[in-house]
Amino acid sequence: MKKLLTLTFLVCSASLYGQNIRIQTSDVELILRVGDNGRVYQPHLGKRLSHESDLALLPQGREAYLTHGLEDYYLPALRLTHNDGNPSLLLQYVSHESKVLGEGAVETTVRLKDPKYPVEVALVYTAYTDENVIKSRAEIVHGEKKPVTLYNYASSVLHLDAAGYWLTEFSGNWANEVNMSETKLEFGKKILDTKLGSRADMLCSPMFILSQNSPAAENSGSVILGTLGWTGNFSFTFEVDHTGGLRIVSGINPYGSEYTIAKGEKFVTPEFIFTYSAEGTGRASRNFHSWARRHTLKNGTGDRMTLLNNWEATYFDFNEEKLAGIMDDAVTLGVDMFLLDDGWFGNKYPRYSDTQGLGDWQETASKLPGGVKKLVETAIGKGVKFGLWIEPEMVNPKSELYEKHLDWVVRLPNRDEYYFRNQLVLDLSNPAVQEYVFGIVDRLMTENPGIAYFKWDCNSPITNIYSAYLKDKQSHLYIDFVRGLYNVLERVAAKYPDLPMMLCSGGGGRTDYKALEYFTEFWPSDNTDPLERIFIQWGYSHFFPSKAMCAHVTSWNKTTSVKFRTDVAMMCKLGFDIMIHEMSETELQFCKDAVVNFDRLKPVILDGDQYRLVSPYDGQHMAVMYTAGTDKAVVFAYDMNPRYGEKLHPVKLQGLDAQKMYRVEEINIMPGSGSSVRLNGRTVSGEWLMTHGLELFSTSRARSVVVEITAI
Ligand code: GLA
Repeated sequence: MKKLLTLTFLVCSASLYGQNIRIQTSDVELILRVGDNGRVYQPHLGKRLSHESDLALLPQGREAYLTHGLEDYYLPALRLTHNDGNPSLLLQYVSHESKVLGEGAVETTVRLKDPKYPVEVALVYTAYTDENVIKSRAEIVHGEKKPVTLYNYASSVLHLDAAGYWLTEFSGNWANEVNMSETKLEFGKKILDTKLGSRADMLCSPMFILSQNSPAAENSGSVILGTLGWTGNFSFTFEVDHTGGLRIVSGINPYGSEYTIAKGEKFVTPEFIFTYSAEGTGRASRNFHSWARRHTLKNGTGDRMTLLNNWEATYFDFNEEKLAGIMDDAVTLGVDMFLLDDGWFGNKYPRYSDTQGLGDWQETASKLPGGVKKLVETAIGKGVKFGLWIEPEMVNPKSELYEKHLDWVVRLPNRDEYYFRNQLVLDLSNPAVQEYVFGIVDRLMTENPGIAYFKWDCNSPITNIYSAYLKDKQSHLYIDFVRGLYNVLERVAAKYPDLPMMLCSGGGGRTDYKALEYFTEFWPSDNTDPLERIFIQWGYSHFFPSKAMCAHVTSWNKTTSVKFRTDVAMMCKLGFDIMIHEMSETELQFCKDAVVNFDRLKPVILDGDQYRLVSPYDGQHMAVMYTAGTDKAVVFAYDMNPRYGEKLHPVKLQGLDAQKMYRVEEINIMPGSGSSVRLNGRTVSGEWLMTHGLELFSTSRARSVVVEITAI
């Protein structure tokens, strides 16, 4: 070890001081530099620099991955204590290397080492050239005799220097997800974090927008959009120091999670994922959307299925006959799949409500005598695919699983149990539990290979935090739970690579990009009131492409029309969760036509570029559009609760070619009605559409317009 340290030092001192490590995409650049003292600094983060000669002019900047115990007085990235009790860490440059990962991604690893103690840290950056997204993580390993305890272990530190900083956070609760609010950061700390254990999201989402010099704007200004790929406790700390510099420290929330690593054991942090845009949040979101489709989402470039779900239509009250009827409805609607939700399992404690049965994944014989097998056959016989809801990480205390395997349940000794939605979380840090959870999916798939889709739910955060399995390592539970979950999801992905799955967590509790590697889409919220969904889908769209977001037409807020509800759902991945017999013939025909339109326009809506045109936060209207190249676009415009006599403005489109001519055609029109769009059926220039715009808004309550724009 000593020999290696000397060698390392020699390499540093001989040739590497002052050298720049450039982590680049087509437009964005993060530069690290080795200082005279061998430590690594961050002189630049922002636009990619094009003049090599300018690099010499850059200031040294602040240390790239700050440690505890030295001369820095603000929040460090890494804090640990050595075997001899020394609580400090000094990290010096050892080497760096870059390799092409394929598909336009370059991974740069910067190796650092303490000159006196055998602790090594690798900072790993993956830069996605075309999408301008950078991921970064840290890998920590030591060679000390006894285990070392990590107290802070950030994935990333980013430093900014601007005249001011504005932070947009996304906060909420069940059925009220991702409310956006922006604050100016002043001296000191602002922390966004959660400690929900089994999920990242609910009260606060694991994502932020940081705007420099002025509040965030859609089409101008320097912004960073950041998120963490971790399905558990996260933390983003924004700290403005006495010089006006801002550091953003991102990673797992270290709360209650001191983590001990043995000699040679590598601690790998989750990836912090960010993009920078000098043209506002719209461009930054499009970076994320393209990156997610191309590099992260399960089957990100593949097709998505429309569906009819039975949850809001039946809740727990169904039988084979009723479900067969709903499958017929799916056929009538023209959707691809019927999705059976909660309530199909449990025999000793049948799942007639959410108070029992969770954990017992055998079909309820009294409700479904033919089991899943018969349901799959019935669906296939009718020409629709069959999808199934599961919540395999959870248990009701009223279940056979709880009775048999109390030691598999996260629960405290000597305390009353506290329930969130009448249930408890299984201890996924325990390999036996991982095996059991994998086995649920595996058994269902082996017995019923016709299952075409899973909705994987997780309705409870971790409560009563204690693991019988972890014994004296209780502070590992938050982290090991999530790692255990990934072990299971890895196995599912390996064995069923083509199986589409929806990620759900009591609505939008799990919306992070690590989990989404295993899922084709997620359920943003249990709130399907279209007036609410306008805000929720708008909020999530800052990070997630429409392709990843399920939106269903339901009976929530029947004061709004079926057309309005459908038009709102159609700006994401369209589905239905409604008794079609509640609809009039005209409404049903409208929905059938909408499904046909959606199928035809999926390449634009799900795979195109999204432009947010009018924010619901700015008034009583919202508009977004999607473009596929410059030849085809779809525009969605919504009036929410406008005031009488309100002044209305045309919606200026984006992303078209000013020189091209386009045909404007309103679609999703109620049968028997005419278009209300002034230029419907006309051919106008891209220039007109982008400079004057289309008059799409009205003063009617809950009214919507969908317009197809086609180059001729
Ligand atoms: C959660 C989900 C819902 C539904 C229910 C079933 O709340 O978000 O969509 O699946 O569970 O219990």
